[in-house]
Amino acid sequence: MADGQGASPARGIIEPATLVAIERAARLLRAGDLVGMPTETVYGLAADALNPEAVQKIFAAKGRPADHPVIVHLPSADHLPRWAASIPKDAIALARAFWPGPLTLILRREADVPDEVTGGQDTVGVRVPAHSIALALLQVFGSGIAAPSANRFGRISPTTAAHVQEELGERVAMILDGGACPVGIESTIVDFSRDVPEILRPGAITADDIARVIGRRPRVRSEVEQGSSAQGGADAAGRLDAPHVPRVSGALAAHYAPRTPLRLVEASRLAGEAAELAATGCRVAVLAISVGDPQDGRLAWHAAPAQPGAYAHDLYASLRTLDALGVDLILVETMPAGAAWTAIADRLGRAAVGSGAEDDET
Ligand code: TXA
Ligand code: MG
Repeated sequence: MADGQGASPARGIIEPATLVAIERAARLLRAGDLVGMPTETVYGLAADALNPEAVQKIFAAKGRPADHPVIVHLPSADHLPRWAASIPKDAIALARAFWPGPLTLILRREADVPDEVTGGQDTVGVRVPAHSIALALLQVFGSGIAAPSANRFGRISPTTAAHVQEELGERVAMILDGGACPVGIESTIVDFSRDVPEILRPGAITADDIARVIGRRPRVRSEVEQGSSAQGGADAAGRLDAPHVPRVSGALAAHYAPRTPLRLVEASRLAGEAAELAATGCRVAVLAISVGDPQDGRLAWHAAPAQPGAYAHDLYASLRTLDALGVDLILVETMPAGAAWTAIADRLGRAAVGSGAEDDET
């Protein structure tokens, strides 16, 4: 890269996360630059959450609309009062139970949290990630790090440092290499800004996990309600809640999508449908769970793990691999029943809606 400054390191380089590299990443964040950061869920595109210009760079790098809020990552729950006002006791209970971990809490914000972080809303999303490199960076940095997933808007979230480089290249100053993300899909988001806790985005921590801690089931926003403004109805206190609909980009129907069209197919129909399509000259890739490879040379057959944790771990990398094959269609076997598959089914449902679109979608 010819930057004319000789000594300044090239941008977008993947670096082993040594203490020296982590300290350099913290300095870059302090200087208002962007860094690729591993977390246990997916890689984040990190910026100083108290620096509005730095957070604006996130939106430019992702190609994401500026009114979408971003999650603030904290070194520990002790930092909560700096960011959130009036924290409900159930939110504290969840933080105690699941932090560090794949859980984001939406809380009323403290007044001086930048609008760039909250999307101009009166709430802020916060979480403490369970990843040693993210926690080390947070501790060295000493404050909140704003970080959405480190992908271009509407695309598959990155679960390796190489994915971040593919997505963002020199838009990031550096990428800390933390290997493959152990969880593989984004955090569960629970909104505590209203009377009834509500899951805005399912994740590895399920509604049952939450109910066990707080003694009541959170409301779960359905896919249809998400991203629409038709969320009427009265809450427990009888108030109409329609005016408060948080903008959650993970709630847009078309999200997490490969460029290749993707369709979900029941196990019983999977091999048959793939063969029929191949017979018409359609190039087909298949992501199967229970259905064995029919050894049909016309099909790119990819076996996914049958255990939901392992499936989630591999999912985004598998979708990238299948997307890169240049086939006409990706067929994905539908998820088995069960709460552990809910978040995966959510992401694949969105991938099916959003797939095949061009890069300039908004
Ligand atoms: O696992 C994760 O949560 C990853 C890692 C990097 O931490 N981050 C992530 O960020 O998925 P992002 O921006 O791709 O998705 C975060 C979601 C977005 O849909 C955003 O709109 C929503 O959280 N969000 C953030 N703050 C919010 C707020 N105050 N109210 C409602 N939704 C919020
Ligand atoms: Mg995202």
